[in-house]
Amino acid sequence: MTLAPDRLRQELRAREPDAAQIGIVRAPGRVNLIGEHTDYNQGLALPCAIDLEVAIAFVRTDDRRVELTRLDNGERCGFNLAKIEPARGEWIDYVAGTARYLAAAGAAVEGLRGVIGTTLPDSAGLASSAALEIAVAWALCAAPPPPVQLAEIAQRVENDYLGLRSGLMDQLAVTLGRRDAALLIDCRSLEWRPVALPLDRYAILVCDSGTPRRLGDSRYNQRRAECEAVAAALGLDSLRDATPALLAELRGRFDPVALRRAEHVVAENHRVLDCAAALEAGDMKTVGSLFAASHASLRDLFEVSSPELDALVEIAVSLPGVAAARLTGAGFGGCTVNLVERSARSEVGEAIMREYQARTGRSGRVFEVEPADAAGVLEPGS
Ligand code: GLA
Repeated sequence: MTLAPDRLRQELRAREPDAAQIGIVRAPGRVNLIGEHTDYNQGLALPCAIDLEVAIAFVRTDDRRVELTRLDNGERCGFNLAKIEPARGEWIDYVAGTARYLAAAGAAVEGLRGVIGTTLPDSAGLASSAALEIAVAWALCAAPPPPVQLAEIAQRVENDYLGLRSGLMDQLAVTLGRRDAALLIDCRSLEWRPVALPLDRYAILVCDSGTPRRLGDSRYNQRRAECEAVAAALGLDSLRDATPALLAELRGRFDPVALRRAEHVVAENHRVLDCAAALEAGDMKTVGSLFAASHASLRDLFEVSSPELDALVEIAVSLPGVAAARLTGAGFGGCTVNLVERSARSEVGEAIMREYQARTGRSGRVFEVEPADAAGVLEPGS
């Protein structure tokens, strides 16, 4: 579900009748197939950019101001590029922070007036904030830095401007996405390669539990601190080089909660490699077991699932046609990702929602998503 460029252009044209040249940029969200809470441990992840996206239509200005109007509620926010204030706890923070760190990295940032729209659900664990940061970067700069550097700039917005110590997976998925593949990313070397998905036979269904995930509530940072404490106790830079044997040496001498977190990370890295190989071999039985193991580990060891996410996964795997299901993203609410036989996808989506409502009293939503290309320009500005 992409935003039609015509609609954005018309919305901007209505506000800027004299605009000479309208630019349009977009950035995809992402669904992580497997490899959760591994990125900030210098581990492995297998995300896929998706066709739910943020898009901006804009005209350049020479007054050093950035003014954006939201398509969904008409709210208009802005700031001066010469005087970027500390974050205020509003959506415009992502825009201002991106401008700040782009400029700090030496990029030529220009003023603009624009309209911004999104088809990505907010706070659902589909990287809506990374998509916003990177769409904004493409609007603010005629030539933004290359993908990995741009991802790192967007990560600084989260880490240094907003105080969320997130990893680099979301931003990399948004800047590297491919319409035909998932991305196997090594978050230590920052090397990556595309992994083909059996999309001729399987569809990707994302089920939104309707319980928003708020990362700012510190549980995410707490998980990261626990992982870092275990790495430090082992004398390692990160959990990337930790092994079950090393963790066993700490047992009885170290915080058992932190050790459970580390146990998840060590096993999850292996699952990523196994899952990439199984997807490439079309071995969906193995993919299904790996998704199930990942979900159980996130629920029991990393403790970031929720009753709603557990219900969505339990319901999905009980249905014929569902090959694999697990929570996706940081957890604490948000979405599940499901690989479903194409021919069964409509029935499966409806059945999951029906049963979810019956079990939890909540209404969820289903999105069928396709892999999408990286962020970039649809129509150049002046
Ligand atoms: C959020 C963060 C990512 C990653 C995931 C969990 O999406 O932004 O960096 O840590 O959670 O895998």
